Amino acid sequence: MKKHLPIRIVGTGAYVPDKIITNQHFVDYLDTSEEWILSRTGIHERHRAGPDEYTSTLGARAAQIAVEDAGLTFADIDLIICATATPDCLFPSTAAFIQKHLGVTDIPAFDLGAACAGFLYATTVAAGLLESGMHDNILVIGAETLSRFADPEDRTTAILFGDGAGAAVLSRSVRPEQGVLYWEWGTDGSRAEHIWFPAGGSRLYASETTVAERLHYLTMRGREVFKFAVSKMQVLIDRALSECGLDADDLKLMIPHQSNLRIIESARRRLELPAEKVAINIDRFGNTSSASIIMSLDENLRSGRLQEGDHVLMVAIGAGLTWSSMVVRL
Ligand code: UT7
Repeated sequence: MKKHLPIRIVGTGAYVPDKIITNQHFVDYLDTSEEWILSRTGIHERHRAGPDEYTSTLGARAAQIAVEDAGLTFADIDLIICATATPDCLFPSTAAFIQKHLGVTDIPAFDLGAACAGFLYATTVAAGLLESGMHDNILVIGAETLSRFADPEDRTTAILFGDGAGAAVLSRSVRPEQGVLYWEWGTDGSRAEHIWFPAGGSRLYASETTVAERLHYLTMRGREVFKFAVSKMQVLIDRALSECGLDADDLKLMIPHQSNLRIIESARRRLELPAEKVAINIDRFGNTSSASIIMSLDENLRSGRLQEGDHVLMVAIGAGLTWSSMVVRL
């Protein structure tokens, strides 16, 4: 939708666990190879949460960095939204546990489930709440520990995912040219079983059978999702740019969700964007689902690659299947 939402990103943060898992880790016990993983996904390594780390602890670390970066304290934050597909537990929300770690009370906090499109979904919700005047400083977090949910014995998924978190503090902008210029979000529920955790919810609740059949692990129809992602990403990018009256040259950076380097490359080639205008972190972090875009945004703001006034296009496709695109002027 083309509607100017005057928000600004006042601070960002990211956090990944120390432990690094290289491709060799999987080559050592699975029927796979460094060559297959690298050429089919673009992943060199990914980070993995330690025994005392989980989604809310990663999210809380990223949140602390973002609030500090904004020059604010948690007393200034009036809403926390945590986008995650890998919550600490079914309930309460991971956002509530993040509050607990941060020593924050009383303000509303909730999770948003849109998988890999989660950060953009949460930013869209936050932008609407800021524009309406309901809130002033919203902390949006994307945090995941997918390593806990990918079957270590399944070579088709074990290699793909990494753990990490990113966070952004969003506020209203007083500069009319700044903010969200365009967003689009959607879901195709007919493809809900393309990527999912079959067991552990109310439909196939936990039992010895579900555990024995490894149904608590992520299941993905990779090839079908791949084809959907390639074509949908192109449609989303084309529409976002044309609705904003921008062309590829006007973009400082495209930040796509990092699910597969080949999906990103196909979008880049179609746009004829030079490689330096496309953000990549899948090589170092794997697929971090809702954290991938905000981790990249944080990295590029900190390095100075992104500056105030730049146009950034963010685009994601995830389980649901969900999708979202957003053009922001920083
Ligand atoms: O983030 C949310 C959205 N997720 C995505 O967008 C993921 C989209 N999908 C993908 O990224 C890719 O489909 C994968 C990386 C998951 C798989 O790559 P692919 O090129 O689509 O491979 P494939 O599933 O078509 O499998 C090709 C072959 C198969 O063997 P056969 O049947 O041809 O003998 C697989 O069993 O590759 C085999 N294979 C592997 N071989 C070595 C699958 N995983 C591996 C592996 N090592 N780790």
